[in-house]
Amino acid sequence: MPATVIVGAQWGDEGKGKVVDLLAESADVVVRYAGGPNAGHTLVVGGRKVVLRLVPSGALHPHTLCLLGHGMVIDPATLLEELDALEELGVTLAGRLQLSRQAHLILPYHVELDVLRERGAGATAIGTTKRGIGPAYEDKVGRRGLRAGDLEHPTRLRAKLSESLEHWRPSLSALGGRAPDLDAIYERLLALAPRIVPLLDDISHSLDVALREGKRAMLEGAQGTMLDIDCGTYPFVTSSSAVAGGACTGAGIGPSRIDRVIGITKAYTTRVGGGPFPTELHDARGEHLRTVGHEFGSVTGRPRRTGWLDLAALRYARRVNGLDGLAVTKLDVLTGLDRLLVCTGYRTPDGIATELTPDLTEAATPLEPVHVELTTWDEPLATARDLADLPTAARRYLSFIEETTDISVDLVSVGPDRDETILVRPCLAGHL
Ligand code: GDP
Ligand code: IMO
Ligand code: MG
Repeated sequence: MPATVIVGAQWGDEGKGKVVDLLAESADVVVRYAGGPNAGHTLVVGGRKVVLRLVPSGALHPHTLCLLGHGMVIDPATLLEELDALEELGVTLAGRLQLSRQAHLILPYHVELDVLRERGAGATAIGTTKRGIGPAYEDKVGRRGLRAGDLEHPTRLRAKLSESLEHWRPSLSALGGRAPDLDAIYERLLALAPRIVPLLDDISHSLDVALREGKRAMLEGAQGTMLDIDCGTYPFVTSSSAVAGGACTGAGIGPSRIDRVIGITKAYTTRVGGGPFPTELHDARGEHLRTVGHEFGSVTGRPRRTGWLDLAALRYARRVNGLDGLAVTKLDVLTGLDRLLVCTGYRTPDGIATELTPDLTEAATPLEPVHVELTTWDEPLATARDLADLPTAARRYLSFIEETTDISVDLVSVGPDRDETILVRPCLAGHL
């Protein structure tokens, strides 16, 4: 039965939260499969805004089962804060939120390490969200990580905590950090455990049962293709498997269970933090995208870097994710630009490269994008609910994306609100 992956096709913040929230209307289960509180997924319903860090973006639909997958790293205090904030908004997840026992824990010294490393890195800083993501995943692959399931076993928890702490003590000291206090961290975890332990479950089993019963599942990615640890612009990436393949390991299902992969892309490009961004703009048009698009990080508040839509990067995203369709968000932000360019490839000594591959983004010489100029439009788009409501130039922009990438545009977003959407394929909502 249908399981759909929703994956960021760019450098994150593509509008995954909005699209998952909208499509979750017809989903029974939504699973977050990667990342941690580095994510900020914004949902706007009837003008009311909610930013989710860890909780899946199906949360606002009262009957949707929300699963936090093994691929995630969880800061337990942040999770509880998020649940409390949702309760205050009248959104209760009681009885419909499960946390994988295999999800790893972010501990206070992971956060401190992340902050200290970034401070000391100068020009080579990744520009992380400083939420402890890198060090927590390092503990995971170093096979000394603490997992959510350890909270059920205090003796095991303490022994593992001690092992992880001893590993990091010299690094923390070398970076000028505080000496971590094992007892204080342990006591804090024990204090949080009574609220976390009841959430623990075998989420892979829950998902498998749901799919066998014919229920509909959505697998929600975090970050984006170009931030993926393997496929992204390494080392300027996050530490998890953000691409669609990560949905299998991160949620505990096999590739054969996945029916559809939808890539989310903005109608332009943004990136927050350091690293290659070949279509970046440093002019008034870039400022237009930042101001009109409110391009400031939802986790850190940092101004996002902005640039033209990179169709060579999208082609690469199609390949590494196996994209079946695209949701194009923030088309409304392009209204009123005096020029509109898109990048279709890169000039290389061997000719034109039509995919933005890792060897290109790692090249020492700056990349030379090939741009195509398209017609601008001035009409506001927020009230459009059908492709026919869009100005001809905006429709042409969308068909140019389809023709160049050979991916169908299945959904177009023309504003932050759930309603501000054109379902190009109405079947998408019903069948995911
Ligand atoms: P995510 O991390 O992929 O979920 O994306 P974020 O929530 O971090 O960033 C997307 C931002 O764009 C949020 O502030 C959304 O409310 C907003 N947004 C989403 N779709 C649209 C759209 O079509 N138009 C406009 N103007 N804003 C949008
Ligand atoms: P969502 O899910 C945009 C970026 C950071 C930094 C790099 C590594 O909202 O799209 P990390 O803290 O993960 O070690 O930082 O990745 N980054 C994101 N950029 N959206 C995100 O999440 C991001 N999560 C991490 O800015 O460049
Ligand atoms: Mg975001």
